[in-house]
Amino acid sequence: MHNDIEEILVTEEQIQQRVRELGAQITQDYQGKDLFLLTVLRGAIVFLADLSRNIDLPTTVDFMVVEKLTKKDGEAEVKIIKDLDSSISGRHVLVVEDIIDEGRTLAFLMQALQIREPASLKIVTIFDKPHQRRAAVQADYVGFTVPDRYVVGYGLDYRQRYRNLSCLGVLKSEALRAPA
Ligand code: IMP
Ligand code: MG
Repeated sequence: MHNDIEEILVTEEQIQQRVRELGAQITQDYQGKDLFLLTVLRGAIVFLADLSRNIDLPTTVDFMVVEKLTKKDGEAEVKIIKDLDSSISGRHVLVVEDIIDEGRTLAFLMQALQIREPASLKIVTIFDKPHQRRAAVQADYVGFTVPDRYVVGYGLDYRQRYRNLSCLGVLKSEALRAPA
């Protein structure tokens, strides 16, 4: 699998170190509170697993599945495929994301969640690609700002593969062209 990687952008050690820092910061910021970790499947599960174990607070975890449909006029429409099992009303919700690119998926999601009246609603993302942002959305906690390239690993996929790489890398062009 590593043979398909052209360049490692963030090493496993750098990611693990940063996740510990984020966990410590979140623990401090939410002191005395109960935290609701809302994860959007599937990319963010790797980050969730590491982050949650670095947060020293009472937490619950729940999942959502959303799908981005691009309409004819180029506008993105986002559909909730699987909703949360529990209510977020009055809860301190932290949305756990893998990467924010255009930001449209997350902007839609944040709107849909705000209506449900959580006590607070924030975002943590392990990677941020702010270059192509098309919706006004900003994470409260960012692991790494990465260049405007297609990246894989640490949960992020190319055609559902490479999620189990422990680092973040860029694929060789041969791997990008390979048949599915
Ligand atoms: P957007 O912010 O609406 O563009 O959508 C972000 C979602 O697209 C992320 O949660 C990922 O699932 C996916 N995505 C964006 N950039 C990348 C990338 O470089 N590699 C893998 N998945 C990506
Ligand atoms: Mg995602």
